[in-house]
Amino acid sequence: MEKRSWAEPYRIKMVELLKMTTLQERKVAIKEAGLNTFLLKSEDVYIDLLTDSGVGAMSDRQWSGIMMGDEAYAGSRNFYHMRDTIQDYYSYKYTVPTHQGRGAENILSQIMIKDGDYVPGNMYFTTTRLHQELAGGHFVDIIIDEAHDADSEHPFKGNVDMDKLDKLVAKVGADKIPYVCIATCVNMAGGQPISMENLGEVKSWCNKHKILLVHDMTRVAENAYFIQQREKGYQDKTVKQIVYELCALTNAATMSSKKDAMVNIGGFLAMNDEALYEKSCELVVVYEGLHTYGGMAGRDMEALAIGIKESVQDNHMQARVGQVEYLGEQLLSEGVPIVKPIGGHAVFLNARTILPHIPQEQFPAQALAAALYVESGIRSMERGAVSAGRDHDTGKNFMPKLELVRLTIPRRVYTQAHMDVTAESVIRVMKNADKVKGLKFTYEPKMLRFFMGRFEEVS
Ligand code: F0G
Repeated sequence: MEKRSWAEPYRIKMVELLKMTTLQERKVAIKEAGLNTFLLKSEDVYIDLLTDSGVGAMSDRQWSGIMMGDEAYAGSRNFYHMRDTIQDYYSYKYTVPTHQGRGAENILSQIMIKDGDYVPGNMYFTTTRLHQELAGGHFVDIIIDEAHDADSEHPFKGNVDMDKLDKLVAKVGADKIPYVCIATCVNMAGGQPISMENLGEVKSWCNKHKILLVHDMTRVAENAYFIQQREKGYQDKTVKQIVYELCALTNAATMSSKKDAMVNIGGFLAMNDEALYEKSCELVVVYEGLHTYGGMAGRDMEALAIGIKESVQDNHMQARVGQVEYLGEQLLSEGVPIVKPIGGHAVFLNARTILPHIPQEQFPAQALAAALYVESGIRSMERGAVSAGRDHDTGKNFMPKLELVRLTIPRRVYTQAHMDVTAESVIRVMKNADKVKGLKFTYEPKMLRFFMGRFEEVS
């Protein structure tokens, strides 16, 4: 077939200048940061691939929305626009705004989870699992085994293993499972989608056992795009239609709108059940703000409402995922081991294979992220043993199968030339991989240690 290239469905109206640093400056900066890329100053970073969260480029329409902010304490016009957009695009009837995704996770966990409960999910996410544990619950991983294998090319590595769900309910009973939490485009698995068919099976299972189905919809549009590209029967549906269909299979959702919806801050908890909505309103006023702003400014709710509409456009998703694939394919063609298939929001380097001389106890992914920064000024993020943290009950370090460095691509921010430089830099680090040393903690925070932990090289 004749090759058809994609191009960004926008042009650039304003640019932000970047600072270039020297090798010596970067060596000093990473040392001061305790070898943790989270502790670097943004000014010392050239290409920032730390996260896709809150770092997308807003459109001229979103910026005009910012000027239309109604900053009334109660009943802001922008809240109603956001609420109606969420119902129209995501199906959920009630919306409770929160300052970001974890604010929604906190409220949901506190309402739903009792001490000793079990919360099954298709792989953990750091903040999600922590809120479940703080509420007295235990997270149970029910994702298919392929998701833990960086080399498996399963097209839907976000799928749930229904046997794992059956075994859990047989072991603990349905009344110990307050809800099943399903993420679309699973972050920690490498940005991997769940199929519509599998989500439908989970839905039927939940109905049968009278258990609520909660959707972590942070990257639902990317998931919908993969369904359109890969799942039988969806080729002729739009991303917008598939997003709606995914959401409509679930009862409630937590959202970090800093990702898919391309705003700098914000999130929400949404649901169809009125009683759950009322309880959420009671808690949102304690932790976030009044139920019509929940920690968001009116202007940010307006930008979010507009961002939701832009995020489900087919040409936007094609360019968004196309850029991630562009980087991933360059790395693959040079023999760099990455998680396959290439994910929706990021390319994940397999640090186990790149640094085979560093045992997982010495955090190879953390070391690789630091080395990439020193080499090139590119900031990435560890997603391995440091992120996995310790078992809440035993205090032992989790040793996840996936020991990864995430090159996360912000939406609508960088060009293909930035991707070229990134690929070249990764390849250069790989050629000198034997010089990278293992790490140990010099400061280990008790919770979410990857954010502020500090390290030194093992001598
Ligand atoms: N769920 C998923 C799947 C996420 O990726 C995130 C955030 C959250 C929930 C929490 O949302 O940050 O708005 O409180 N992920 C970011 C990341 C931080 O870099 O992957 P939040």
